[in-house]
Amino acid sequence: MDKKVTFGSKFGTLAVVAGSVIGLGNIWRFPYLAGNNGGSAFIIIYILCSLTIAIPIMMSEFVIGRQTGRNAFGAFDILTKGKRWTIVGILGILTSFFIYGFYSVVAGWSISFIQTGITEGFVGKDPTEIQNNFTNYINTGWKPTVAALVFVFFTAMIVIGGVQKGIERMNKVLMPVLAFIIIGLFVYSTSLEGFGKAMNFLLKPDFSKITINTMLSAIGQSFFSMSLGMGCMITYGAYVKDKTSIPKLAITIGLADLTIATLAGFAIFPGVFTFGIEPTSGPTLVFETLPMVFSMMPAGNIFGLFFFILVFIAAITSSVSMLEPICLFIIQELKVKRAMAVLIISLFVATLAVLCAFSQVEGSTIKVMGSSLFDFLNSLTDRFMLPAGGFLIVLFVGWFMKKDLVRGQITNGSTSFNRGYGIYYFIVRYFAPVILSVFLLNLSGVI
Ligand code: TRP
Repeated sequence: MDKKVTFGSKFGTLAVVAGSVIGLGNIWRFPYLAGNNGGSAFIIIYILCSLTIAIPIMMSEFVIGRQTGRNAFGAFDILTKGKRWTIVGILGILTSFFIYGFYSVVAGWSISFIQTGITEGFVGKDPTEIQNNFTNYINTGWKPTVAALVFVFFTAMIVIGGVQKGIERMNKVLMPVLAFIIIGLFVYSTSLEGFGKAMNFLLKPDFSKITINTMLSAIGQSFFSMSLGMGCMITYGAYVKDKTSIPKLAITIGLADLTIATLAGFAIFPGVFTFGIEPTSGPTLVFETLPMVFSMMPAGNIFGLFFFILVFIAAITSSVSMLEPICLFIIQELKVKRAMAVLIISLFVATLAVLCAFSQVEGSTIKVMGSSLFDFLNSLTDRFMLPAGGFLIVLFVGWFMKKDLVRGQITNGSTSFNRGYGIYYFIVRYFAPVILSVFLLNLSGVI
């Protein structure tokens, strides 16, 4: 057996896991979903779901990963006799691939905006011009494609560097930069005229807006944002040191994720209301709203450039965590060298990304079940694949994994009474499986 690879330091571990969870999910997806689903009511369910279901699932993924030291497929293979549970690993690897495909398109947008920031700047453009520019950009097809390919290339370069020298080193530098930029933007947006309206929208719950659809989006989003349900945290769990406390790590990361999503919401909605943009405008919301804010802001060129650098950082620290699980699977199960594994996966992902980018061109025929490939993958993964993966993972840890192994991982071997462990075990054994199965059954039209 090869020497166990682990993260180098405590800060490194936090940075890498935070790098995975904090991503476009927080800055791009959370604001537009909150906008689509009426704001605060959605946010409340999202927070509840993150605290009661998502954090325990993250702990469960770490448990499986650290216990076995293997990729999402291999971990289930080791822990069970039959091969049946390895399907969870396979499902996860497929999900990572789908997410990575459309994710790199959105990440590519940030690269194009960085380019605009450097060459033309943002100041002085009027709102219609900004909106038209973005629509035209998407409709070229090739421009977003090139940007997405550049992004896939950058991600590959980092993952080729390995766990400590590539992924950890990058995150240790970029995550503090990210925190700094987002706080700066938040502080600025408190001075916008739409800030009051935004506070209302984000904080005053209107429970009449809650439908089963809202709840589904909230669950899906909490999984997406915490990188759960596809074995990403199983893979990272394999690199977590034995002395690290899994509950502490998961809770810290979960809270950091919620905080950044909230900050992003507060940084974005004042702009939405100031410029009278429809909060329900969907995936393009952030990329249309913020340039309008920057166009009128003192030092808007600098702020704008920083913002899109922030989006890029958030995206790349997450995309490595989509590539790494597939990569570790190929390295461990198919005995392929890291660089080769990265190359193979990146070629496949690049193809998917090209299709996703072109599927957004007006009149495109790259459609699945009536939606563009981009929209289809975006909702298939978070509405179905991640909750299904998460459901199977808690079911496995709660009912099929040996109890003393789970306990040993959660408490780091302590045998004394531990109330936290009791709560955790109740959630993974009963609470989370019940709630998730209700949603999954509902989704498939059974109830
Ligand atoms: N959590 C990341 C974000 O918020 C996206 C992500 C990275 C992800 N790895 C994942 C989502 C694994 C689901 C599963 O942008």
